[in-house]
Amino acid sequence: MIYPLFLTLHLFAALIFIGTVFFEVLFLESIRKQLPARVMLLVEQGIGRRARSLMPWVLLVLFGAGLGMVGLRYLPVLASPLASSFGTLLAIKIAVAVSVLLHFLVAMFLFKSGRMSPRYLQFIHGSLFCHMVVIVLLAKGMFYLTW
Ligand code: HEM
Repeated sequence: MIYPLFLTLHLFAALIFIGTVFFEVLFLESIRKQLPARVMLLVEQGIGRRARSLMPWVLLVLFGAGLGMVGLRYLPVLASPLASSFGTLLAIKIAVAVSVLLHFLVAMFLFKSGRMSPRYLQFIHGSLFCHMVVIVLLAKGMFYLTW
């Protein structure tokens, strides 16, 4: 019963995280051209504040549930990741997820040290967007692609 619980938590946390990244890239970047810079700054500050308070918990649940699922079911598969297509794709998915975590930590550091600039933020959003597309393809592909 605990595995479906981890999976459900993982899925909800993934929805929130992926949804936020997609919103920031697909909506916010295009709204930027329609709003005065001062208004946009206030909007971004508000969203940034909310994201910085919510996202650490979302990531905790996402990674905690992911690790929980691996511990319950996939440790043997990950012990020799190249032995199966599932193991290979799951190992790549986890590596991409670690890169996502690093992006988040760098962004938090830049915000806290006052060094975050619109250019850095745009780069981080774009890179995270690509990571999310790859992770979703891997998360589903590992169940359907075989070689
Ligand atoms: C940014 C981080 C992550 C995102 C966005 C993400 C997203 C997803 C998504 C969308 C699924 C498909 C769930 C479904 O369709 O039912 C999934 C499955 C899975 N994820 Fe993650 N994940 C992330 C990190 C991790 C990490 C760090 C681990 C392990 C250490 C992990 C382990 C798994 C496992 C084992 C499954 C397969 C669950 C199953 O169906 O049995 N994920 N992930």
